Amino acid sequence: MALTAELRRPQLREVAGIPLQATTVGNWSQIQNFEAKPDDLLICTYPKSGTTWIQEIVDMIEQNGDVEKCQRAIIQHRHPFIEWARPPQLSGVEKANAMPSPRTIRTHLPIQLLPPSFWENNCKFLYVARNVKDCMVSYYHFQRMNQMLPDPGTWEEYFESFISGKVGWGSWYDHVKGWWEMKDRYQILFLFYEDIKKDPKHEIQKVMKFMGRNLDETVLDTIVQETSFEKMKENPMTNRSTVPKSILDQSISPFMRKGTVGDWKNHFTVAQNERFDQIYRKKMEGTSINFCMEL
Ligand code: A3P
Repeated sequence: MALTAELRRPQLREVAGIPLQATTVGNWSQIQNFEAKPDDLLICTYPKSGTTWIQEIVDMIEQNGDVEKCQRAIIQHRHPFIEWARPPQLSGVEKANAMPSPRTIRTHLPIQLLPPSFWENNCKFLYVARNVKDCMVSYYHFQRMNQMLPDPGTWEEYFESFISGKVGWGSWYDHVKGWWEMKDRYQILFLFYEDIKKDPKHEIQKVMKFMGRNLDETVLDTIVQETSFEKMKENPMTNRSTVPKSILDQSISPFMRKGTVGDWKNHFTVAQNERFDQIYRKKMEGTSINFCMEL
């Protein structure tokens, strides 16, 4: 559905101090009351951390590497986005409710906003984290092209919004730390974008085992190939090319933009980088989590 001019660039609203899309906030009680099931798998990410990538990997594993089966629908329709709401379309909750089990669902919610039934049912969680600098660059370009998110302003302006957590789904730091702290208390497989980039087969094998699956080497090799950036950029089921330009304007910046580690170096000035590193050290003090900022 195309977006009419008055619906473009809506302001975010907040739930418990976390900025979210206004339509999500409008549907908040339905989201919070969502009834998870014990065999649900939840893909969790901070925006722009490789959500689409891990979704395609998970689906390829679920379909035993059958490329045609993964072409059955665009990726946004294969795994309901639990906080998605844009009436009159079906909400993420309604789509998940209509889906047969075992279900794979996705979310960008921080731990404190997750519908409680996911914890109560001891579901499996697959979290993908991406280094903050690349994440921020990717998010900036995404906000430039996504007419459903606020205009990011200049890079300098966005830098300030991002470090103060004034972006959709809130602070990167709190999101990542929150999920990291939960990882030993629940069934959470915590992955890093940079590790998948470095050794996709190894990380895909981890996902496969976590999902309780066993695929042979040739299938794994197919999955590695089919989920490469180059393949997914050309694949209309993963590259968002079916989304109208009035919503995602890929002439501004493609959805499958660069898919690399270290693109932040093309954006951060030396001064920004020094300031950012200081803030990062403070915010990440006391956590054992380690990120790789370049390969
Ligand atoms: P860039 O903007 O840095 O290119 P999400 O799916 O969470 O919105 O994340 C989008 C980011 O993941 C984009 O980053 C996109 O290019 C990257 N991405 C998507 N598929 C990928 C793949 N197969 N390999 C590497 N990066 C991928």
